[in-house]
Amino acid sequence: MTNPYTDQYATALDDADPLRGLRAEFHVPRHGDGEQAYFVGNSLGLQPKAARAHVEDVLDKWAAEAVEAHFTGTTQWMPYHALLREPLARVVGAEPEEVVAMNSLTANLHFMLVSFYRPTRERPAILMEAGAFPSDRYALESQLRFHGFDPATDLIELEPDQPGGRFSMEAIARAIELHGPRLALVLWPGVQYRTGQAFDVAEITRLGHAAGAIVGFDHAHAAGNLALRLHDDGPDFAVWCHYKYMNAGPGAVAGCFVHARHARTDRPRFAGWWGHEEATRFRMEPTFQPTPGADGWQLSNPPILGLAPLRASLELFDRVGMQALRAKSLSLTGYLETLIAQRLSGTLAIVTPGDPGQRGAQLSLRVLEGRGLRGRDAGRSLFDALSAQGVLGDWREPDVIRISPAPMYNSHADVLRFVRAAEAWREGRA
Ligand SMILES: Cc1ncc(COP(=O)(O)O)c(C=O)c1O
Repeated sequence: MTNPYTDQYATALDDADPLRGLRAEFHVPRHGDGEQAYFVGNSLGLQPKAARAHVEDVLDKWAAEAVEAHFTGTTQWMPYHALLREPLARVVGAEPEEVVAMNSLTANLHFMLVSFYRPTRERPAILMEAGAFPSDRYALESQLRFHGFDPATDLIELEPDQPGGRFSMEAIARAIELHGPRLALVLWPGVQYRTGQAFDVAEITRLGHAAGAIVGFDHAHAAGNLALRLHDDGPDFAVWCHYKYMNAGPGAVAGCFVHARHARTDRPRFAGWWGHEEATRFRMEPTFQPTPGADGWQLSNPPILGLAPLRASLELFDRVGMQALRAKSLSLTGYLETLIAQRLSGTLAIVTPGDPGQRGAQLSLRVLEGRGLRGRDAGRSLFDALSAQGVLGDWREPDVIRISPAPMYNSHADVLRFVRAAEAWREGRA
């Protein structure tokens, strides 16, 4: 049984998978009499079945105890966000005091920029990737203008130097060196949303710091996907969301990392009472005294109903650990790559790097041709045909289909199903 394109081969891989039981912990959307092959965990992860119980626990406590629920039981609301701190730190490779769940991704990016983007006339510039997720660009551009600088000269957007919109480390290093003396900040993605390329966080951080800049990361597509080591890799800050690989639900409360070296600094920040030193918060004194660590950037009392599904998700991450998840992810995505090479090489081009060390779960695919169509038209046609067969990927303009096998709930059989569904489209059977 050496042909990967067989049910037996996929089944053997799934039978040997130590994480195969995890799928049963999630609600998998239905398709006909069966389940979808859901490859959109890079957009909205599936619902952990335990999420409902955690949300209901909050609702029940609210109904039965109202304000007193802040101080009763093991899930009391006053320290509720602290229940998330350690498991979240384990997912992103941080010290517990370096992480906090709060706000949304873009809001956290702005709050981090308030503290860490401190432009001067000599050093006003920000380096980012051209083609970044638009929200990041809007945030950076608006921060530049807010400080009285001109994005036309001070927002440096590095163009990709590799096919398919990928970057070489050399190009990133050259840009940091070239602009170094003017750089206030480097903001980079952990995993690029369109291409799926993963970057060397430690090396980009080292280069940025050597140039005298602050270094931050958007880990929207990296958290829960790669085995991050934020503390050791050393960026100054990072932000991410929890609705993708972290499976905490639509618009879930987001994540934020502030490196321990900034835990006790008097950096300027936009303050709110929940960031005030915990021991004295309820003295209601007029002077803000930040609590050490990432918690000191909180503004408001946390949305407990919003945190409840994240708790459910983190329990699963804690049960298996990022190393085991990453090992399965490498197997699933490697299998996807192998089958595309074997069965779909004239139909699909893989945009994502072939080196597993430079990608996470996602493969970004361009459709070359099929059914008499080419390029974008072929892409849209395939995408629609996949959806009609219960194989869910997502579409990113102008011409990319993203397929992300999530190790929490996808199987090798799902991957084989994707390839067969794409073949059925090509051959006019779907
Ligand atoms: C890479 C990246 N950055 C930023 C965002 C914006 O996130 P939010 O709407 O949660 O602020 C997203 C959303 O999908 C994203 O993928």
